[in-house]
Amino acid sequence: MSDTRRRPETVAVTAGRPPHAPGAPLNEPVTFTSTFVQGGDPVYARYGNPTWSAFEEALGELEGGDCIAFASGMAAVSAVMAQVPHGGAVVVARHTYQHALLLLDEGAATGRFEVRRVDITDADAVEAALPGAALLWLESPTNPALEIADIPRLTGAAQAAGALSIVDNTFATPLLQRPLELGADVVVHSATKLIAGHSDVVLGAVVTRTPELAERIRHHRGLHGAIPGPMEVFLALRGLRTLSVRLERAASNARELARRLAGAPGVVDVRDPGFSTVLAIVLADAAAADRVVERVQLWIPATSLGGVESTLERRRRWPTEAPTIPEGLIRLSVGIEHIDDLAEDLLHALGS
Ligand SMILES: Cc1ncc(COP(=O)(O)O)c(C=O)c1O
Repeated sequence: MSDTRRRPETVAVTAGRPPHAPGAPLNEPVTFTSTFVQGGDPVYARYGNPTWSAFEEALGELEGGDCIAFASGMAAVSAVMAQVPHGGAVVVARHTYQHALLLLDEGAATGRFEVRRVDITDADAVEAALPGAALLWLESPTNPALEIADIPRLTGAAQAAGALSIVDNTFATPLLQRPLELGADVVVHSATKLIAGHSDVVLGAVVTRTPELAERIRHHRGLHGAIPGPMEVFLALRGLRTLSVRLERAASNARELARRLAGAPGVVDVRDPGFSTVLAIVLADAAAADRVVERVQLWIPATSLGGVESTLERRRRWPTEAPTIPEGLIRLSVGIEHIDDLAEDLLHALGS
C-alpha cells in the first residue's frame, strides 16, 4: 500500500524515513554539513539538506503539497508575502497572528503592500474586498480570537478574483484541516507549535499546491537565507511522529476544559473553536486576567502554544496585539496533562 492511500495518522509516522533496507537506520540522521562533495545534489547546505528533505516529505505528504522548511514561522510568512508584486493588495483577517499583520503594516507604510483588513467570519465582506487583490491571507482558527473562516468559499472567491489564497494552518495542523484540499494555493505553518510540539524548536514551513510556486519559494529561501538548522528539523520531525496522539489528548482536554470553564467565576466568555487545542477565556478586564495568570501554579505563563505543557497568556499585554481583542482575554494552550489537574488549577486561580 502506497503512503498516499494511508491515513494521516499513519503517514505522520511513516513518511520521510529512509528505505526499509537491511542495516538502514529507521530515522533520517541529522546531517551537519555546510557543503557537499561536488557532482551530486544538494551542492551547498543553504539549498538543501537530507534532514530537511525528510521533514519536507512528511509534512508535504500530510498537507497534500510541496513543502519547504524555513528557519521560523515568520520566515515562512515572509517568503509567501514576498510573492506579492510591489504595491499589491493583500486581504487579511484583522485578527491574524500579530506579527504577520505587523509585517504587512510595515510594508504598507513604505508602499510595498496595500493592506485590506477584514472580519474573517463575514464572508460577504471578504469577497467584497477581493477585486484587484494579489493575495488572500487566511488564518483559521485565528490567533487569538479563534474565529473560523469558510475556507472553501473564500479560496474559491480568491481564485475567481485572480488572487493567491494562503491559509496559516498552525492551529489546526494537517491532521485536523487540509487547506489545499479546500482550495487554498498555499499553507503556512509555525512548526514551532503543534508540529514540533515540545516547546524546544523554532521552525516554519510553506506547503504549495503547485511545484512551480514551490520552486519560487525555495529560490527565495536560498537567496534570502532563512534556512532551518538540521537539528531543529530533526526535532520537528520527531515531534510530528507523535502529533496524532498529542493532538487527540490535548484537544479532548480542551473540549472538557471549555465545558468546565463556562460559568466559572469571572469568566464572561469561553471561546472554543471546537477542534483545536487552543481556547480563550474572557474576563472583565486586564487586571482580572492578570490576577489569574499570576495565581496559576500548574499552567505556565508564557507566550507560544502547541507544546505538551499547558501555557496561558493575556494577549493584550502585547502592545502590537489587535485593539479589537478584549483586554481581559486569556489564550489557553492546552497540553496533555490530566484534565482534572488542569481544571483544578485554573478554577482555583479564577477563585472558585
Ligand atoms: C498562527 C501563527 N502563525 C505564525 C507564527 C510565527 O511563527 P514563529 O514564531 O515560528 O516564527 C505564529 C507564532 O506565534 C503563529 O501563532
